[in-house]
Amino acid sequence: MNFNQQLADYVGQVEAGIDRFLPPADERPTRLHTAMRYAMQGGGKRLRPVMALATAELFGAPADDALPAAMALECIHTYSLVHDDLPCMDDDDLRRGRATTHKAFDEATALLAGDALLTHAFVLLTVNYANRPAMAHALCRELAAAAGSRRLIGGQMEDLLAEKRTDVTAGDLDLIHLNKTAAMIEASLVMGGIVGGAETSTLDALRRIGRHLGLTFQIVDDILDATADTATLGKTAGKDAEADKTTYVKLHGIDTARRLADEQTAKAVRALAALPGDTAFLTALARKLTERKS
Ligand code: IPE
Ligand code: IPE
Ligand code: MG
Ligand code: MG
Ligand code: MG
Repeated sequence: MNFNQQLADYVGQVEAGIDRFLPPADERPTRLHTAMRYAMQGGGKRLRPVMALATAELFGAPADDALPAAMALECIHTYSLVHDDLPCMDDDDLRRGRATTHKAFDEATALLAGDALLTHAFVLLTVNYANRPAMAHALCRELAAAAGSRRLIGGQMEDLLAEKRTDVTAGDLDLIHLNKTAAMIEASLVMGGIVGGAETSTLDALRRIGRHLGLTFQIVDDILDATADTATLGKTAGKDAEADKTTYVKLHGIDTARRLADEQTAKAVRALAALPGDTAFLTALARKLTERKS
C-alpha cells in the first residue's frame, strides 16, 4: 500500500470506530448523544487516532487492537475543539466545514457534549482494555496527563491569558504550543506504543517525536490561520489576528515560523529513523503535517 492508501485505510477504521464506540444517537438523552456524534462526525483529519493506529502497528499490534485507544484520543481532541469554539473562548461559528456544535445546538448542549466526550474517552479505555489491567492503567495515565491542567487545559488557559499581551516571549509561546497541542500528539504516539507493547525507552523516543510534531502542527495551524481561506480550512480564517492571539506568526513572522516548523519536522524525521521497524508511513505523515494546506 502506498502512503495515501494506507492513510485512507486508517481514516476509514477511525470513521467506522466513531460510529461503533459512541452511544447511539437515539439513546436518551437523544439531544446530547446526537450532539456528541455531530461533533465527532464532522470530518476532521483524524490525525491523532491515525498516529495511534500506525504506531501500534509498528510494534506489531493486531490491526484493531489500538482502535479504542485511538477513539479515546479523538474524543478528547474533539471535546477540546467543541469547548475551544465556545463564545467564552475563541468564539467560532465554523468547525470541520460546518456549524460549530454550540451553533448547531446551543451553548449548554455543546458544553455538556464536550464534558461527555471527555468522560467517554476513559470509559472506552477502561472497558475495552479491562482484560489487560496494566495496559488499561498505562493508557488512562497517559491520556489523563496529556488532557489535564498541566498540559492541554493548561495550554488553553495560557493561550487565553496571552491574548492581547505584547510581552509574551518565544519561550512562553513554545510552552503554550507544547501544552495545548503537542501534549495530545505525544500521547497519540505513546498510546500506540503502549498498545504495541513498546518498551519504556522507546516510549520516551515516541514522546520526543510527538513533541516535535506537535510543535510543527501548531506552528502550521498559526500560519494557516493567517494565510489560508475559510473554505479550505473548514474553520474561520483570520481569527488569531482578530483576537490578537499570541501566535508564531505574530511573534516571529510567517517566514521564520515556516522555517521553525521545518526544523521541528526534520528533528522528528531523524528521531523516527532511529526507531525499530518500518517507519515509512509515520515519516511520510510527519512530512505531510508540515506541508498541509488545511
Ligand atoms: C485543530 O486540530 C486544533 C489544533 C490543535 C490546532 P486539527 O487541525 O487536528 O483539527 P481536526 O481534528 O482536523 O478538525
Ligand atoms: C486550539 O488551538 C488547540 C486546542 C487544544 C483545541 P486553536 O484555537 O488555534 O485551534 P483552532 O485554530 O481553533 O482549531
Ligand atoms: Mg484556541
Ligand atoms: Mg480556536
Ligand atoms: Mg488555530
